[in-house]
Amino acid sequence: MRKIVAANWKMNLRRESAATLAGALAGDLREMWLFPCFVHLNSVRLQLSDTKLVMGAQDVSVHKDGAHTGDVSAEMLKDCACELVLIGHSERRQGYGEGNDVILRKLVRACAAGLKPLLCVGETKAERDSGSAQTVVDTQLLVLKRLAPEARAMVAAVAYEPVWAIGTGNNASVAQVEEMHAYIARKLHSLNMNSTPILYGGSVTPDNARELLANKSVDGVLVGSASINYDAICAIDDYAKKQEMTPRAFNTLNEPPPPPEALALLFERDTDDFKVEVKLKQPLPPSAPAMQPIEDIPTSAPPAPISAGSLSRYEEEMSKRRPPTQPLPRTSQGRLQPVGPNSQGRIQPVAPQAAPKAPPPPAKPPVAPAKPTAPVAPKPSPDAPTAEVPKAPAQPITDKQAKPDTKTGPQKKANIYDETDRPSWV
Ligand code: PGA
Repeated sequence: MRKIVAANWKMNLRRESAATLAGALAGDLREMWLFPCFVHLNSVRLQLSDTKLVMGAQDVSVHKDGAHTGDVSAEMLKDCACELVLIGHSERRQGYGEGNDVILRKLVRACAAGLKPLLCVGETKAERDSGSAQTVVDTQLLVLKRLAPEARAMVAAVAYEPVWAIGTGNNASVAQVEEMHAYIARKLHSLNMNSTPILYGGSVTPDNARELLANKSVDGVLVGSASINYDAICAIDDYAKKQEMTPRAFNTLNEPPPPPEALALLFERDTDDFKVEVKLKQPLPPSAPAMQPIEDIPTSAPPAPISAGSLSRYEEEMSKRRPPTQPLPRTSQGRLQPVGPNSQGRIQPVAPQAAPKAPPPPAKPPVAPAKPTAPVAPKPSPDAPTAEVPKAPAQPITDKQAKPDTKTGPQKKANIYDETDRPSWV
């Protein structure tokens, strides 16, 4: 399989130039992964039919759908002909504080919608200088361990993109790339992801692409700024298409990867803190009276008179229904009287009741000898209707990922990271 060229156009280009660039690459019969911004997806899509160009989005919502202004869901992206999605890019990790929890949710959403994620990882300059680059990347890769095996199989690639190399003109040296890619390859091996390509990204240009792409540890490149230049991205692609990916083979004598079942258990245990939102969609049972909840009735003092013309429609409606001078309707026990809808479904005011006269204090009955009696539950009074809306029963959480592992109990932690194993190209 030839090496991959992924073009991250970021927040660049305008609709027409994005479509023109995609059309030119399509006309050259290029095989690339293109990541235009959301609003250009449709224009780019129109250039891609019958080509080997594959389109992806630069981000995806953690939510499935609903009231999330500004978000774009995985299903919407799939609907726009996206096949891929970038997740965990350092510009989102750093600019929007995205951590492993958010990234994991995005991965799950993407895979559930049939989008293949391209997971980006990479350390900052300070982290590299302090010697913790591998630890940082290791932590970022934990999200893959938390994915179900079927979702892991959908990951299109992992891109190593050191933050200090992105957009700076200082690409990582081939030795640095090779060392980190070997480390990532070992982690992927331990997750049965030996065939997941490992890309390098960070100031890739036609000047350094040849050397980077010639290295066996590099399965492809993720190109940012150079990717919006037609000549530059074509030159990079010309190097890439001459290079075949090297299959990663490991010395499995040291420690074979755990079987998929063990991974699944690890996945369940590790996702205790991962909550997928569940919305109760179950309608109320038909017998439930459509009543105004009693808590909605304002109990505070009636508002000061409002000058004509300043009433909102709601206030106007409410003041018509319940003149503020009248006391709120109450039951003989002093509880607020519920109000129900009339035949047109409108809330009807309940006529105020005259305050009951206080009965004279009862004469004290003669004291009878106390008998031990069982406590009697109070009988519901016809005067005290309950207006509580029955709650819909809680639905079970259906996302497999969200279920804590309650049945299996504590699992023996498998050593899933084999530090001594090396891919054959190291
Ligand atoms: P760059 O960006 O090539 O401009 O450094 C790479 C990336 O962010 O994917």
